[in-house]
Amino acid sequence: MTDLSAKRFADGLSEAAEPDLDPEALRRRALAALLSARERTALLTDSVDDGELTAQHSPLMSPLVWDLAHIGNQEEQWLLRAVGGREAIRPEIDGLYDAFEHSRASRPSLPLLPPAEARAYAADVRGRVLDILEATPLHEGGRPLVRAGFAFGMVAQHEQQHDETMLITHQLRSGPVALSAPEPPAPTDAAGLTPEVLVPGGAFTMGTSADPWALDNERPAHRREVADFFIDTSPVTCGDYERFIEDGGYAERRWWAPAGWEMVCANGLTAPLFWRRDAGRWLRRRFGVTEVVPRDEPVLHVSWYEADAYARWAGRRLPTESEWEKAARHDPASGRSLRYPWGDEDPAPDRANLGQRHLRPAEAGAYAAGRSPLGVGQLIGDVWEWTSSDFLPYPGFVPFPYREYSDVFFGPDHKVLRGGSFAVDAVACRGTFRNWDLPVRRQIFSGFRTARDV
Ligand code: AVJ
Ligand code: FE
Repeated sequence: MTDLSAKRFADGLSEAAEPDLDPEALRRRALAALLSARERTALLTDSVDDGELTAQHSPLMSPLVWDLAHIGNQEEQWLLRAVGGREAIRPEIDGLYDAFEHSRASRPSLPLLPPAEARAYAADVRGRVLDILEATPLHEGGRPLVRAGFAFGMVAQHEQQHDETMLITHQLRSGPVALSAPEPPAPTDAAGLTPEVLVPGGAFTMGTSADPWALDNERPAHRREVADFFIDTSPVTCGDYERFIEDGGYAERRWWAPAGWEMVCANGLTAPLFWRRDAGRWLRRRFGVTEVVPRDEPVLHVSWYEADAYARWAGRRLPTESEWEKAARHDPASGRSLRYPWGDEDPAPDRANLGQRHLRPAEAGAYAAGRSPLGVGQLIGDVWEWTSSDFLPYPGFVPFPYREYSDVFFGPDHKVLRGGSFAVDAVACRGTFRNWDLPVRRQIFSGFRTARDV
């Protein structure tokens, strides 16, 4: 790492403090990340019966049993075969679980492993992976794939990403309630929170070259220039969004990007996904329960087009991806970019709503301990936040270790989301983490905050 650090300082890049690259600490970290991902996968797949595991709950989603075996298959390909040099356990199933070979809508008609076999397969892979983790040197000089435990971290992140995908499937399914969780913490000082703060313009360090488990699209660290801007200290709430609806937001073409207006007209949209008007109030369905829409909670299940239209109606705009990251990571006192808004330490339960501990976002103003130095809150966790930016590679991007993770998605079709939702685990969420989706998508746990020029 010495040579890399020297290069970073020479470039004037100032990232978070040097990460802990002790091989034994990394091994423990990888083990913990793999085990906690599997615990979550088990909960999501054991909480419904076999009929529901193999059913398709929405054409947008795979059957849950596909995600389960796909998780095992990716782990087999990367950790058993690529890292461990082992033979394939079941080479004939690779194609079934290749996300690029079969559309989500077509997956139920494939000869998928039935639930018991999918579970046994994933467990078999995992058992062998634990031996490989034990035996693989994770020190600095090693192969790029295992350096600092990268492949193990990548596979744990992959499983957690599918755990979020499976939670989306749970949200889309009908049928008896299968999941429950405690309520997130209430805000403690929301009344004193100013609605927006000024982020001073100038260059900052975007992306990372130092975070050992950062994925290819977060790399490398580079300087970005942004002008002064104001940004909301909390995500836009359901109450805010209701005012847009009540003001005829969905009926007036002038607020919408042309393709957004087409989406509204073609689908007769009048509110976020899962909302329904009843006796003068808005109700929503959340994991099988119908409830009154909570006014103070960040709005969820809006497409990029809806976020963009709301912002225009409010006389504001979505932040660019660079603005979002500067608001989240820039520390004016040191000039450094932090790993997280609160500093370089890993997320803790008082800083961010992550990891499906709660099955909803916390009210706007919660998680005071998670705010950035400039006072911007709930950047990490709660809801994924749409930015105005297309998903594009950073200067110097190198696909690693496979093109199909990021490279094939770059371009104007996908918009960037930042910050993570209540459904994503801490291992797959950082100040630099980049998510993306089509601007029409709203089954995801997506919300937004707004910004404006000075
Ligand atoms: C980064 C969330 C867009 O789910 O399509 C999972 C993550 N990539 N398996 C997705 C992913 C391969 C990806 N997102
Ligand atoms: Fe995947």
